[in-house]
Amino acid sequence: MNKQPIGIFDSGVGGTSIWKEIHALLPYENTIYLADSANAPYGPKGKDAIIALSEKNTEYLLNQNSKIIVVACNTATTNAIKHLRKKYDVPFIGIEPAIKPAALQTQTKAIGILATKGTLSSELFFNTSQLYSNGIEIIEQEGEGIVQLIESGNINSEEMRALLEIYLKPMLNANIDYLVLGCTHYPYLIPQLLKMLPKHIKIIDSGEAVARQTKAILKQLNLLNIADVKPDLKFYINSNPKVMSQLLNNNFEVNQKDF
Ligand code: SIN
Repeated sequence: MNKQPIGIFDSGVGGTSIWKEIHALLPYENTIYLADSANAPYGPKGKDAIIALSEKNTEYLLNQNSKIIVVACNTATTNAIKHLRKKYDVPFIGIEPAIKPAALQTQTKAIGILATKGTLSSELFFNTSQLYSNGIEIIEQEGEGIVQLIESGNINSEEMRALLEIYLKPMLNANIDYLVLGCTHYPYLIPQLLKMLPKHIKIIDSGEAVARQTKAILKQLNLLNIADVKPDLKFYINSNPKVMSQLLNNNFEVNQKDF
């Protein structure tokens, strides 16, 4: 039994979608979540900047004695996880767009991927999409502006609806039957997307798979905390905590802190 916390970071509040899945599957684990909202979005930044921010977040979480780090951000995973794994002696779990299940299940042979510029231009994304694109059309769409709207609490705004309409159009024209959400902020858009998309289009995000992978790695390394006690759940953000508190249904204290 290991009581050290699971460290989780994201460019901002979106990774709470991943935290929720981890907490649901591993309810006794202590967790520390870092929302680097002061530096969001990571998507338009260059690889070196994304690596530097990911190092900063990792070192803070390691100083808090984290036993594993979940990079709850697609952009940080696709640009920095290889570097982080080399530099730090701790297991890392990353988030990659779920291209594989979509590519294996599509009937229309067309799938859509909504992700940031940083994710879509990464080597990791290129290699994964090459691997599964045989005979399948992959419509890549940069979700420019979406993260900023979520970070500022404008999830259900008219501006968001208008952006989504523009971004979904080429995918609908290509007759996709799977939409892959390649950014951990985007699961918060699922209620809207379900209203906007034809019923036969399925939405895939990586949250559950990441939680299962986190559990499997902790088990394999004998690091699970199975004590049936109330966990210590810490949430830190380096900007205004209001939106993050709302996304956590005001059930948890979110502390503003520089890190
Ligand atoms: C961003 O900060 O631009 C998005 C984070 C992500 O890719 O999950």
